[in-house]
Amino acid sequence: MLNFTKDLVRQSGKIPRKHWNNLTAVKYKSPRNKLTIADTATQKFLVDRIRRKYPEHSIMAEESGKIINPGQQYLWVIDPIDGTAAYAKGLPWFGTSIGIFKNNKPFIGVVYDPIIDELFWAQQNKGAYLNGKRIRPSQITSLAQTNASTGFPWQRKGIQGQKQLKNFNNLNDKLENLFISACAVTSFCYVACGRLDAYFEYILNPWDFAGGSIIAEEAGARVTTPEGKPWSLKEKRIVVTNGKIHNKLLKQLIK
Ligand code: IPD
Ligand code: CA
Ligand code: CA
Repeated sequence: MLNFTKDLVRQSGKIPRKHWNNLTAVKYKSPRNKLTIADTATQKFLVDRIRRKYPEHSIMAEESGKIINPGQQYLWVIDPIDGTAAYAKGLPWFGTSIGIFKNNKPFIGVVYDPIIDELFWAQQNKGAYLNGKRIRPSQITSLAQTNASTGFPWQRKGIQGQKQLKNFNNLNDKLENLFISACAVTSFCYVACGRLDAYFEYILNPWDFAGGSIIAEEAGARVTTPEGKPWSLKEKRIVVTNGKIHNKLLKQLIK
């Protein structure tokens, strides 16, 4: 199943690559929330092939609206293009993500950046990898040396968006760098491989973090809610760190 998923996600990258920087029509699902031809076509490519290979599995895909075959032993959670806002502007900040759960437990994660051809993957108890090489988080132990990122999603108008701004304001002064990410799925992977020491966001959907959380945990990173509770697909707010700065960062975050 891991090899099938890796091959599938890598193959699907030809679709966003083909339309990238060449989009004529971009629709809006709601204000600020874009949908491109590549989101729909990449999802169709992935879902069609998964259904052909594993017709009995459950599938939750961002652009479908409802779960296919709910309640089965395996659940696939798919974001065909994460970072559509950047993608639609021709920026190279996006990725495709699949997280697979077996009996409700994290099992396989695969995230692909088709522009720089980086494939991250992990399987439960087998470690996490980037293009075949084992990855591990950074060893940073102080917030003053932390390079983190966070995101401001399209639904940022409400209370969670306000909390995000306060967090940004507070941490801006305490961390070495706080970047704004346009792509959640690769941010998880960057913590997994030590490029970032932390990433957090307060308005996420399951497909934004399913694959990335599995990869990050398998690499040895820590993934929790801002309260330090274990993550689940029901959460909206997720914090991932190298583990060593986790408690220090949680103490700083407005809940
Ligand atoms: C979004 C991206 C973005 C994050 C948002 C997500 P989409 O996903 O992950 O980085 O800030 O919370 O909704 O809509 O591009 O798949
Ligand atoms: Ca997403
Ligand atoms: Ca998406």
